[in-house]
Amino acid sequence: MCLFDVLGLTPLVLAYTVTVFSISVSSGQTSCSKGWFGPTCQYQCHCAGSAPCDKHNGSCSSDCHQDWFGPACQYARMGFTVNGNFNSSLLTDNTDTTCNRENLRSVTVTLDTPIPLTWLRVVVSDAVDFNTVKISYRSKSSHTQCPESNFVEINKVTADFSCPTEYPVTNVTLSGLGNSLLCSLYINAGRNVALKQPAKQSSLYKDKKINKDAFVAQNAVDGQIPKNSKSSSQLTCTHTISGKRSWWQVNFTNHVEITRFVIENRRDCCQWRLNNFSLTVFPPNGSNTSQTFRDPGKNQTRYTIVPSPRISFPVKHVNITEGFNRERILTLCEVFIFGGKLNVFLTRL
Ligand SMILES: *[C@@H]1O[C@H](CO)[C@@H](O)[C@H](O)[C@H]1NC(C)=O
Ligand SMILES: *[C@@H]1O[C@H](CO)[C@@H](O)[C@H](O)[C@H]1NC(C)=O
Ligand SMILES: *[C@@H]1O[C@H](CO)[C@@H](O)[C@H](O)[C@H]1NC(C)=O
Ligand SMILES: *[C@@H]1O[C@H](CO)[C@@H](O)[C@H](O)[C@H]1NC(C)=O
Ligand SMILES: *[C@@H]1O[C@H](CO)[C@@H](O)[C@H](O)[C@H]1NC(C)=O
Ligand SMILES: *[C@@H]1O[C@H](CO)[C@@H](O)[C@H](O)[C@H]1NC(C)=O
Ligand SMILES: *[C@@H]1O[C@H](CO)[C@@H](O)[C@H](O)[C@H]1NC(C)=O
Ligand SMILES: *[C@@H]1O[C@H](CO)[C@@H](O)[C@H](O)[C@H]1NC(C)=O
Ligand SMILES: *[C@@H]1O[C@H](CO)[C@@H](O)[C@H](O)[C@H]1NC(C)=O
Repeated sequence: MCLFDVLGLTPLVLAYTVTVFSISVSSGQTSCSKGWFGPTCQYQCHCAGSAPCDKHNGSCSSDCHQDWFGPACQYARMGFTVNGNFNSSLLTDNTDTTCNRENLRSVTVTLDTPIPLTWLRVVVSDAVDFNTVKISYRSKSSHTQCPESNFVEINKVTADFSCPTEYPVTNVTLSGLGNSLLCSLYINAGRNVALKQPAKQSSLYKDKKINKDAFVAQNAVDGQIPKNSKSSSQLTCTHTISGKRSWWQVNFTNHVEITRFVIENRRDCCQWRLNNFSLTVFPPNGSNTSQTFRDPGKNQTRYTIVPSPRISFPVKHVNITEGFNRERILTLCEVFIFGGKLNVFLTRL
């Protein structure tokens, strides 16, 4: 078993053991810099409180960071609010031992950003027959039941339910928990498949006063976003020179299924340069035509693009092109591309 299997880069097997995550570590493994792990240090640690993770398998000594979960904390979790008189932080605090106090017939949550569902993890307080648990969702104003019994039991109180959808989902409803209390709900929002993938841009802006490689294309997939609006903090961004349709491109070593893009703009100035940018996804070969998404033209610090319906083909390249801004410059601070295997459960192995 290797890390690639765990992270869904090769076909997954649905068999499951409680030892969710283990990898074989080859001898001669290089030591990763702080905050990174994996055979070529290509994965980012996501531990609570920015604690360091295990250099080989990414596991955290305590919990995952609030925004991440699953094996090696590599899966983004979609935030949500719980409808009704309910303390939603009990379900989202990444602590599986804090549960809602009342047992409810059903719980409906509203996603912070509507995304297509893939799978979700349910953690309850007491052993339950997961066959009785029913999950449904609201999408495009219709209410649909997830396929029954399409789950993997991880242990007596934890199960992963598969429920892939074509269209973004606004609400998810859970019922049939019996006398058990709900402790955690993790709605998978994908892995960041862009991280450390090969990137290029149409040109490189060089500033004599600073390192000549300060604004390379790779900066948009380095996992770092500017910490504040100081110009020195933008050194984690890309920057082209003025050019006819400046562009940036990332290629994937393996083709990926994508559900969502999050693009971080610079914080110090010039946010309008991203107005009207276009993002195009390309299939591996001529079997499908490319698809383009265009920003509506507002100054924003962060752009979220959720294709609806979701992209139907595996993606080989993504190209982001400047939208005729007056300087004809493209700057990106980070391009998060969320996806992975969509029609299977997570989960290893
Ligand atoms: C990760 O590696 C550490 C140290 O080698 C080990 O203690 C831990 O059990 C491993 N975690 C998993 C989930 O395999
Ligand atoms: C909600 O639960 C959290 C613990 O997860 C607790 O810190 C907080 O005080 C609770 N809020 C309310 C309004 O009960
Ligand atoms: C579903 O989500 C919407 C927001 O998108 C919310 O207004 C509505 O109350 C939710 N529906 C249910 C049944 O909870
Ligand atoms: C992506 O692949 C194409 C060929 O398929 C190549 O022309 C291009 O230079 C590659 N881009 C990067 C960023 O590696
Ligand atoms: C695209 O790739 C697939 C799988 O690699 C192959 O079966 C198909 O023939 C290719 N199509 C074209 C048009 O090259
Ligand atoms: C974007 O910001 C620029 C400079 O601050 C401003 O001139 C422009 O009107 C803004 N555009 C929009 C659509 O808000
Ligand atoms: C894209 O190609 C795949 C097979 O390569 C096919 O299953 C899928 O339906 C195609 N999608 C579109 C929109 O043509
Ligand atoms: C990216 O898109 C732009 C505009 O469509 C195009 O000019 C450029 O050649 C593309 N770059 C790559 C590497 O595909
Ligand atoms: C937005 O970009 C498209 C091409 O990508 C261009 O045709 C259009 O004129 C641009 N709109 C504005 C307001 O710049």
